[in-house]
Amino acid sequence: MSGMLGLGVIGLGSVFEPYAALIRDLRIEGRIRVARTCDTVPERAGEVERFLYEAAPFSTDYREVIADPAVDAVLILTSMPFHGPIALEALRAGKHVLVEKPMAVDLETAEAILEAAEREGSVLICAPSVILSPTYQAIWKRVVHEGQIGRVDLARARYGWSGPTWGKWYYQTGGGPVFDLGVYNITSLTGLFGSVERVAAFAGTVEPRRIVDGEEVEVAVYDNYQIMLEFGSGAIATVTTGFTMQSYRSPAIELYGSEGTVQMMGDDWGPDGYEMWANRFGVWSVHGEVDPGWDWTAGLRHLVDAVDGAPRLMLPRHAYHVLEIMLKADEAARTGRAQTLSSRVDPIPYDPDSIVLESTFPTHDHRILRAEE
Ligand SMILES: NC(=O)c1ccc[n+]([C@@H]2O[C@H](COP(=O)([O-])OP(=O)(O)OC[C@H]3O[C@@H](n4cnc5c(N)ncnc54)[C@H](O)[C@@H]3O)[C@@H](O)[C@H]2O)c1
Repeated sequence: MSGMLGLGVIGLGSVFEPYAALIRDLRIEGRIRVARTCDTVPERAGEVERFLYEAAPFSTDYREVIADPAVDAVLILTSMPFHGPIALEALRAGKHVLVEKPMAVDLETAEAILEAAEREGSVLICAPSVILSPTYQAIWKRVVHEGQIGRVDLARARYGWSGPTWGKWYYQTGGGPVFDLGVYNITSLTGLFGSVERVAAFAGTVEPRRIVDGEEVEVAVYDNYQIMLEFGSGAIATVTTGFTMQSYRSPAIELYGSEGTVQMMGDDWGPDGYEMWANRFGVWSVHGEVDPGWDWTAGLRHLVDAVDGAPRLMLPRHAYHVLEIMLKADEAARTGRAQTLSSRVDPIPYDPDSIVLESTFPTHDHRILRAEE
């Protein structure tokens, strides 16, 4: 595609602000123009100028976004149950799509989405974009491509917090912490280890009532999870997630290999560098964040690049596999039985030569300044 991509944005809630920062950058670079925006709440029209710093047409019906010939690509930022149906309609209308996670809340819709994208030749990018983070890619290169910590058979990942105080849908069927938070860890781990064969889980609802948007709501989903994944490689991993974690200082991802250990610090959606133990050196090495400016909204730039013909790293089949794992984790928790996966994931087609291992952004000045300097 040459020229500017016409973008339609559906859903102008809390996550619109961070996406708007990237939309402004892409607009300044002359790569996109915002053709139409949409939210079912009419008052949200004000968010458009507030965060994009310029006006754009606004609708309360997402079908008007999809039908607009000025819209080439649709960015779907609604509450989760609407992701699948809107993505499917947009793809069937021949639009490119970036859909926030999860791509759908059931496998039938997700399958139809994959088929529609393939049939129309559209670019489909499914959040989260953790596998684009330069720190994640550096870890992939060291651990998977170069095998610097030997064979990795054990891993842990975690992401949680105390839970949203907005958006009642987060606590209703089709919401919950696995779709919202665990999805990052599961995407990260499957990007490193490949397909999951079996999933087991314990889960529960610790807080059956919460205050959301100033009102008390019944919590209809599990809010507390320990998930276990068994990979085709034989590796096993845990994912700890919930709206039950107030704070932590633990690594986001821990990888235990036969020759060493790698720990991603921070969160996998916002890494803070990584640390590596290698038996052959007998020391820990501390690696700063490869690109501190990287942001989790990066999937949108990936979409624009892909429409322009750049190789795609975020593969829709990966998001489908992650969705199946998440749904089967719930099933495993409900039934008390491990569940077998039927979908598979392909390796991410990284170009190892293009992956930078070390930070090129010094964050500290290590010199000791003397009086005469
Ligand atoms: N909040 C975060 O930090 C965060 C981070 C990353 C991803 N996400 C994902 O982004 C999505 C949105 O999250 P949020 O926190 O912004 O939610 P939100 O509830 O604040 O916003 C969702 C918006 O979508 C609108 N909406 C719902 N259904 C619609 C429809 N059919 N047509 C048009 N508009 C509709 C709502 O009116 C609301 O303004 C979720 O899938 C979430 O998982 C959120």
